[in-house]
Amino acid sequence: MMKRTFPLIALALIALSIYLFVSAPPPLQTAAVESGVMIPIEQVLRTVSAENDLARALWTQEIVGAGQVAGLAFDEDWRESTVEAGPLPALFLRESAANLETYPVPLSLFLGSDFPINPSNQFSGAQTDRFEQIKATGEPQFFYADDTQLHTAMFPDYASVQPCIVCHNEHPDTPKADWELNDVMGATTWAYPKAEVSLTEYMEIISAVRRSFAETYTTYLEKTATFTNPPPIGDQWPSEGYYLPSAEIFMQEFTRRASSQTLNDLLTMGIEP
Ligand code: HEC
Repeated sequence: MMKRTFPLIALALIALSIYLFVSAPPPLQTAAVESGVMIPIEQVLRTVSAENDLARALWTQEIVGAGQVAGLAFDEDWRESTVEAGPLPALFLRESAANLETYPVPLSLFLGSDFPINPSNQFSGAQTDRFEQIKATGEPQFFYADDTQLHTAMFPDYASVQPCIVCHNEHPDTPKADWELNDVMGATTWAYPKAEVSLTEYMEIISAVRRSFAETYTTYLEKTATFTNPPPIGDQWPSEGYYLPSAEIFMQEFTRRASSQTLNDLLTMGIEP
């Protein structure tokens, strides 16, 4: 058994490592990755959640944070044609979630709360009870939701820095104006219809998540092209001045930050053939 499956797993992992480390992955070579290995969905959702945290950190620090110093603006109304701004971090996530919905991969992403600024971000059904547990324990929740018939993972979203609570408490639409630092403000919620996936499906999921980030970033670059003073797009970052990295450079940096962790998650989970 070991003798027969090991080379196939090794081949699959080689294919996967190459795949994870390129910023614009080629179409999947399915034959090379069909190995019979199945990965539990909980593991997959933990990995996409970790990738999402990295994308959000890259966006928040290197584009929004450094960009504001360099003269770029970020606003909740960034989509309006008269507003010369890019998306706030929560909206970067929402935009990526919307892109994800348009792909064939049946993965969904939702940032919900019990006191949302935007009423459409209110938890409902099984997620409401699970969110209470997250607030009580601080632990992520993994469950099969009978109402949606989806395997679901919810990860706490903490008020980790002052701007989270300042902006939310002062927002005209907020139903709660006394958020405090380190409160669980919401939960990043991922859902998928199957309990486990093949390596091919796993790679399709990772690829879809990364494509959703790349698309959101590209939409932002397209928006900046309409600014009165469009920032030059190339290989420089806002930390160097009034510049923006191209989508390729942005995703290269994301891939650099994310891939070792993602591959490591997979290698250390004890794959069962
Ligand atoms: C400059 C303002 C601003 C900052 C800073 C900010 N947010 Fe938000 N956040 C918003 C807005 C506006 C929305 C609603 C977006 C929408 O329409 O979906 C939102 C949405 C959310 C949601 C979804 C529920 C809801 O309220 O609609 C969560 C959870 C959330 N933010 C958490 C955070 C956390 C955690 C931080 C800090 C790491 C943070 N936010 C920083 C403005 C902000």
